[in-house]
Amino acid sequence: MASVSLDRTSELKERIASREARIGIVGMGYVGLPLALLFSEERFRVTGFDIDYRKVNTLNQGGSYIVRIPGTEIQMAQQKGFSATADYSQIGRMDVVIICVPTPLSEYHEPDLSYVTGTVRSIAPHLREGQLIILESTTFPGTTDEIVVPLLEEGNPRGLRVARDAASSGFYVAFSPEREDPGNDSVARRDIPKVVGGCGAAAADLAGAVYQTIFNRTVPVSSPATAEMTKLLENIYRCVNIALVNELKQLCMRMDIDLFEVIDAAKTKPFGFQAFYPGPGLGGHCIPIDPFYLSWKAKQFDFRTRFIELAGEVNLQMPYFVVENVMEALNRQGKALCGSRVLVLGLAYKRDIDDLRESPSLTIIELLQKRGAQVEYNDPFFPTVGQGRKYVLNMNNTPLERIPEFDCVVIVTDHSQYDYAAIVDQAQLVVDTRNATRGISADHIVRC
Ligand SMILES: NC(=O)c1ccc[n+]([C@@H]2O[C@H](COP(=O)([O-])OP(=O)(O)OC[C@H]3O[C@@H](n4cnc5c(N)ncnc54)[C@H](O)[C@@H]3O)[C@@H](O)[C@H]2O)c1
Repeated sequence: MASVSLDRTSELKERIASREARIGIVGMGYVGLPLALLFSEERFRVTGFDIDYRKVNTLNQGGSYIVRIPGTEIQMAQQKGFSATADYSQIGRMDVVIICVPTPLSEYHEPDLSYVTGTVRSIAPHLREGQLIILESTTFPGTTDEIVVPLLEEGNPRGLRVARDAASSGFYVAFSPEREDPGNDSVARRDIPKVVGGCGAAAADLAGAVYQTIFNRTVPVSSPATAEMTKLLENIYRCVNIALVNELKQLCMRMDIDLFEVIDAAKTKPFGFQAFYPGPGLGGHCIPIDPFYLSWKAKQFDFRTRFIELAGEVNLQMPYFVVENVMEALNRQGKALCGSRVLVLGLAYKRDIDDLRESPSLTIIELLQKRGAQVEYNDPFFPTVGQGRKYVLNMNNTPLERIPEFDCVVIVTDHSQYDYAAIVDQAQLVVDTRNATRGISADHIVRC
């Protein structure tokens, strides 16, 4: 008689299909909270885990700390069973646990996986048979298989092992990168295909089943390392192309050619060209950081990722280039930067979002201050700004009505609610790093 092998994944698949599966999301930040809300909209009972008690309390009081997410969305999710907790013992009640914690760089530009390893160590004691654990944090290829799986196996008291096929007992592990582009509303999150790589076909299958409930398309790949590398390729592609246009911008300025006009013309080509735009430097939790995860890992294979290093070099010096241009522009008006009053417009790392992480504005402000300028800022998303991991500002938002008091206004973030014609009209001098003043002609605008 032919033996029928047991499919241990079928119960979880049924629970996912019937929405009985409980979903735990670890890390209630820019990635984890919207993901929790998507699952909640799909009628899953979701628990958000975070070690930041302020976030946990805000969420449980039906509030939000992310500008794009109104409190009403949290309250609607609460009605469908959403709650937040800092208590890891609740992990045992979850069927699926998705990890969305930070993956920053250390002071020496090396991967800092402490948030991921800390989270996995906290999950491990509560692991149970048949659970699915998915890592979404961006990281170097090998993290899931070489770091996450061993920590889960070593740390659980029941001696559970990763199940690499549907007949084996144990828990399932997969990696699925987050590909969201904050502030870009042109593509709905559901329409961004979800890449999934499992530790074995069973885990890939289960992770696919979970994500199919909230994404219109899933893209299975052969391993977690392939999925990890896919995310890095996407971000390195952006980083390198942004560096290319940042370098060409500097050349075009010397040649008196408007690079923005060049890009607009080039992008009329229906194939083989994708438009990237120059700016004051990279910002956010992804593009300035993720490529260095790969260059670090590459060293283990005696390999130098030269494109990443060169792009990093070009992009990192862009804030210095902006400050040089401010200095020269003031000079042409017979003023020194030292002692001049400079208003930086936009603190967020990109348009229309409330995220300061790695923002070039922070570096530009620091460089201007070091050179003796009296700097203030305006940003509708930040009424005040204190200090963070890499900056100490302790400033209040300066109202736009005070623009005429400043020797120079530097447009660093092109928020769409700014009235650029009015800004140019009132300012003594404008340095525009984003081409936000396109179409406005005035002698006191310097575009760089
Ligand atoms: N923000 C984006 O646009 C974006 C896009 C794609 C990918 N990613 C990646 O997603 C990951 C998360 O990024 P994010 O922007 O959401 O970060 P975030 O800083 O906004 O949120 C992370 C959350 O994790 C919490 N946290 C840290 N350690 C924890 C622990 N041990 N247990 C529970 N919670 C913990 C923090 O308190 C925070 O609330 C990163 O790897 C990032 O590279 C981010």
